Amino acid sequence: MRYKALTHNFPKKRMGLIQVDNKTEMSDTDRWGERYAANFEFFPFHEGGKYSLYKGVLNGSSFVHSRHGHMCVVRTLRNRCAESEGEWEPYLRIARETEKLIPEFNCSVGRKVFSFVAPFLTCVEQKSSFVSLFRLWNPHDKRFKPDEYVVVEPYIQCHFRRLDLNTPAVDAQGGSHCESHNVENSRTENSSAKSCSSKKSVSPSSKNKNSLVPASLFPQSQDDAEPELTAFGHYTWHRSGKFVVTNLRGAREQEGSPYKLVTPTIHSVSRSYGETDDGAAGIIDFFDHHVCNTICYAWGKYEEPNANCTTGHVTQHSSSLNQPD
Ligand SMILES: Nc1ncnc2c1ncn2[C@@H]1O[C@H](COP(=O)(O)OP(=O)(O)OP(=O)(O)O)[C@@H](O)[C@H]1O
Ligand SMILES: [Mg+2]
Ligand SMILES: [Zn+2]
Repeated sequence: MRYKALTHNFPKKRMGLIQVDNKTEMSDTDRWGERYAANFEFFPFHEGGKYSLYKGVLNGSSFVHSRHGHMCVVRTLRNRCAESEGEWEPYLRIARETEKLIPEFNCSVGRKVFSFVAPFLTCVEQKSSFVSLFRLWNPHDKRFKPDEYVVVEPYIQCHFRRLDLNTPAVDAQGGSHCESHNVENSRTENSSAKSCSSKKSVSPSSKNKNSLVPASLFPQSQDDAEPELTAFGHYTWHRSGKFVVTNLRGAREQEGSPYKLVTPTIHSVSRSYGETDDGAAGIIDFFDHHVCNTICYAWGKYEEPNANCTTGHVTQHSSSLNQPD
């Protein structure tokens, strides 16, 4: 179901000198040849440690574009305005790595566990004249301005929570919430589903998984049914030998459907994925808290370089991805 578009982009809405909408500029063309802008609300629905997040709706440059009318989040820096694209570069690079690994992981476990639509970068084009008014009604810190760089990502509606913990699920907002059901079916998901028709195993060491060790010997992930949720982080190390993708957050709309993710965190050997990248310490911390299960127990783990007097820190990972570092 598509969210009813608040307003469409063309032409600009004005009432005399008054600007009605908050809106972004059109994005660059994505890999499906589509471009989007977002109209967004007058105040953020969340202000956290780093970001102020606005709910919005995507407007395609054409009405037939696949995500036209879908709900989105316009992510802004909370305490200042991003004045260059570079400010979002680590965030977008993490998203690209995630986007690359998720279809591979889904294939390797034989089902579509996760779906992920990477955010796009754009600028604020127009600030509504009503923003100041709404600030009185709903006080908030963020003061965005035209030309500020922002990223736009899918809005995840139901039961947003941390997914990859070995402990019971906790809603990221301190409780569950479900406003309505969003059954967005992005083209990414569809194409990924098609390319994932094959059965298991992309990775060499996943060939013998499930066969040698009874599942009962492994502690289970949060709902005892989905070891895939915790195995994904281990998989990212196994595949790359350079980083772990962690802090998986998102939700699924119904039982059996894939978990939609927002951009996670990467801890890398080169510590090159922005300020949330804790480098080797982050990777060590990940493995300290990670409990292997039937999917990932055979995969190599991070080894501290000094441990065996070699420069290597990788065991048993499959062919490296092309990383920028
Ligand atoms: N794409 C999204 N769709 C729906 N809700 C989202 C989305 N992204 C983030 N949120 C909500 O906003 C909260 C904060 O997001 P995020 O962690 O990215 O920002 P932050 O500035 O680091 O905030 P915090 O300090 O609270 O962690 C999430 O816990 C979630 O409830
Ligand atoms: Mg956060
Ligand atoms: Zn593991």
